[in-house]
Amino acid sequence: MKSFFGVDYYPEHWPVEMMDKDINRMVDMGVEVVRIGEFAWHIMEKNEGEYDFSFFDMVIEKLKKRGIKVIFGTPTATPPAWLINKYPEILQRDENLMPRSFGGRRMYCYNNETYREYTKRIVTELANHYKNEDSIIAWQIDNEFGHEGSDLCFCDTCKRGFRNYLKEKYGTVDNLNKSWGTVFWSQTYNSFDEIPLPLKTITHHNPSMQLDYKRFMSKSINEYAKFQVDILRDILGEKAFITTNIAGGYFDKNFDHKQMAKEMDIASYDNYPVWGGLKEPITPANIAMDLDFIRGLKRKNFWIVEELMGAQGHTIIGYLPRPNQAKMWAYQAVAHGAQSILFFRYRTATFGTEEFCLGIIDQDNREGRKYREVKEFFKDVKGYRELLQSPIKSEIAFLYDYENIWAWKIQPQSTAFNFKEEMLKLYTAFYRHNTHIDVIDSKDDFSNYKVVVLPVMMIVDEELKHRLEEFTKKGGTVVLTYRTSIKDRNNNLYLGKAMPCNLNDLTGIEVEEIESLQEGQFAYADGKFGRTKCSVMREMINSKGAEVLYTYQDKFYREKGCITLNKFGQGEVYYIGTSADEEILTKIAEEIVIKNDIEHYNTPYGVEVYTRYLNDKKYMFVMNHTDEDKEVLGIKLMPYDSKIIEVK
Ligand code: GAL
Ligand code: ZN
Repeated sequence: MKSFFGVDYYPEHWPVEMMDKDINRMVDMGVEVVRIGEFAWHIMEKNEGEYDFSFFDMVIEKLKKRGIKVIFGTPTATPPAWLINKYPEILQRDENLMPRSFGGRRMYCYNNETYREYTKRIVTELANHYKNEDSIIAWQIDNEFGHEGSDLCFCDTCKRGFRNYLKEKYGTVDNLNKSWGTVFWSQTYNSFDEIPLPLKTITHHNPSMQLDYKRFMSKSINEYAKFQVDILRDILGEKAFITTNIAGGYFDKNFDHKQMAKEMDIASYDNYPVWGGLKEPITPANIAMDLDFIRGLKRKNFWIVEELMGAQGHTIIGYLPRPNQAKMWAYQAVAHGAQSILFFRYRTATFGTEEFCLGIIDQDNREGRKYREVKEFFKDVKGYRELLQSPIKSEIAFLYDYENIWAWKIQPQSTAFNFKEEMLKLYTAFYRHNTHIDVIDSKDDFSNYKVVVLPVMMIVDEELKHRLEEFTKKGGTVVLTYRTSIKDRNNNLYLGKAMPCNLNDLTGIEVEEIESLQEGQFAYADGKFGRTKCSVMREMINSKGAEVLYTYQDKFYREKGCITLNKFGQGEVYYIGTSADEEILTKIAEEIVIKNDIEHYNTPYGVEVYTRYLNDKKYMFVMNHTDEDKEVLGIKLMPYDSKIIEVK
């Protein structure tokens, strides 16, 4: 699939008379593709069974005349009022068993049979209607699965579904009781029909049960997505090219994104480095990690179907991207593997919940700074299409496992713990050296990398243990952090094993005791790269062969290791038993990058370079993420400047 550029267009939001002018302007801007349809169910089916696609037929005709292609969205993120009023049981229920009201979006239950039926009808009609429409180059199913809290449901259908899921998984209730440890607090079940959903209770539900509930929700969302994909593939056959737009906050969601991406022809992302209420954007490293995560889903380049241009927010508006800043984010996105980009949105709406989600054109309908930036960006990147499609090779991989992330969500163990922040801290340490990094599922093959980093991997099963050992034996470097391998897949601790339970040999250490540190609470450790603050958690480590790089500084734990390095086979294993300072982590990362001869660049703080290769040529994407003039590789950069440079 080639690379293309465009905008998210909502033609239904303006008088029809404006359409021709708008499309002309899009052509002038350099738009090649627009996304339409994804929230327009009522326009397509005003009353039950009255399908009418004439509005979009007209839009597509007009776009076609000007050579603009289409990504069509299925409208299931916003069921119409008539449907919800007829079948209120479609609505999700929250943890207090309150239905989510009609009025927002994404309020349907993924397991509701009636909703599946109506989904099937609208998607079938839509696909049949457009199956011969060549200007539709791709389909987007739904919109941002699981976003805005729509990834949990506690309705009766889900309760039945959960019990069936457990029956299938455990076979007998005795087996479930054993696996969950229900003898604790007299929670032993006599039958599957007694098992509750994790509704509000006093203190907390059983952690094994909660993890299974999250698995069940993940399965429900992914099955619903597959249900739509299958309908489209059935009707469109060979021509089907399907994606779905993944929202930010992917580590906070209760569905396995990798699983969903398997069903798609390409992974797509909605890239919003800043949103409602934020005083400033997320860090450049955070944006980069997001992009690397999306690329990791299919281990291929991807699309961005919503790229922020204006400030955004529903009731509270976010930070105003400075001149050229949003454009620079678009350069950063293509650098990290976005081979196509659509900006959100063509023009700001003058009504509805999103009238403060500002577009390229504002409500004044004038061509201003944002318009010029988009136009310039399109013009420039179109000269590099082949480069943008070239594969990205990384020698460093960050590994995650959704079940591990959920286990942390269930028991964060410190008020200061946040999975994404812990991941990001380490990611930032490597990002600082302008290395290529893949963010991938720990079940993916990682044997060809030089370095793998597994932040806070509580769940390390036998299989992962084995693969890590093989990887290290052959010369790989592994980086682990605190609370590694303390839990099994049932979310229970191991009996009779020192922590990190499955990785004592690999790490050459044993953790004797741990201390949870709350927000604002720190310990200190000294070692190789100078003093580090320890936050979130610290482990008192006894070496069983590993070199101790850091020891604690307080009275009772001076003898205990904090950071260690073990030789294992031809390889090395770093174990960081705390959430260390970014500065120290950056030095550890540098040591690893140098030892492993990994391509990297020193740049001034806030300046990112990302290399890409095409045929025998090397290109550098250079981004100044700061509001100051900078210089790098002999190139002068204005605030928020970005450039693509061919390196001779
Ligand atoms: C995205 C969403 C869009 C719109 C946008 C506003 O998350 O997919 O439909 O809501 O945010 O910034
Ligand atoms: Zn439900």
